[in-house]
Amino acid sequence: MRRGILGTLGSPLVQVESPEGSVVAAKVESRNPGGSAKDRPAVAMVEAAERAGELGPGDRIVEPTSGNTGIGLSMVAAAKGYDITVVMPASKSPERRQVMRAYGADLELIEGGIAAARERADELAAADGVVQVGQFDNPANPEAHYRTTGPEILEQVGDRRIDALVAGSGTGGTVSGVGRRLREAFPELEVVAVEPAANAVLSDGESGDDEFQGMGPGFVPPNLDRELLDGVETVDVGTAEAAARRLAREEGVLVGQSSAASLVAARRVAARLVEERGVDAAAPAPDNDVGVLDDDPPDREPIPPECPLVVTVFWDSGERYMSTGMFD
Ligand SMILES: Cc1ncc(COP(=O)(O)O)c(C=O)c1O
Repeated sequence: MRRGILGTLGSPLVQVESPEGSVVAAKVESRNPGGSAKDRPAVAMVEAAERAGELGPGDRIVEPTSGNTGIGLSMVAAAKGYDITVVMPASKSPERRQVMRAYGADLELIEGGIAAARERADELAAADGVVQVGQFDNPANPEAHYRTTGPEILEQVGDRRIDALVAGSGTGGTVSGVGRRLREAFPELEVVAVEPAANAVLSDGESGDDEFQGMGPGFVPPNLDRELLDGVETVDVGTAEAAARRLAREEGVLVGQSSAASLVAARRVAARLVEERGVDAAAPAPDNDVGVLDDDPPDREPIPPECPLVVTVFWDSGERYMSTGMFD
């Protein structure tokens, strides 16, 4: 028995349908207690502020966020007894607002993107007893993924080598923290960030308007470790949403836009690695039958070592996107 909800962080690593000769597996982060990967940095950033003596009883947390960090922080604030104000672009999905309000958070909706939300949060944080945890530059954000998500993945793949991590980037916390940990274990690992095609700041230095929620903040955040990256893939929202619909209908995995974009990019990288390695088409292919229970069949063939294993991240559930119409 856990002493509280915050001790239940963690998620499964699930193989999904993969290009021939490769295996793509996704960390299904909707299984965290607040429903997304951002629960991990939310707990870590609040506890770091408590340890530093910056946050204590009676204080209020304030944070600009496109949603999932706000939900994670609202859950942590409720569990630990803090007040919280979430500053959020009005364009983000109403489901997110409803969930934060359910946790008792105060919400301030602003016009504009995440940069405008940051400015407003800075104003609010100037008051006494108000603490902004600052997900874009707080080292506890990538550190949470380095300490929890990365080691979980290493344990979940067992003795398999991981060839690439392909993951969307918002604050950069996930791709940087997980990437750092996996690179320690596998020095040859490729780390590839994913960003919206219409807001490809990492690829071409130009920000733009995009419809993704959670990835592509329109600037290069301090928490993104660009040194770690071997490449950047761009995906447009239409392609991502089509991939999310297929994943839900054909594999029974319900995810949102940035998760599906990460899958599209992960499949591209997997196909490229198969080609680069010249994986022998006549060699036994990996068991890519993904709709089975783990012990059915019990004698699953081991995946041949030359077949690349690409890990990606599914941040949250498609249920957080119903109002966007992407599944209609
Ligand atoms: C849905 C979604 N996708 C992707 C990301 C990007 O994660 P990170 O901020 O760790 O780069 C986030 C972050 O909030 C998110 O909410």
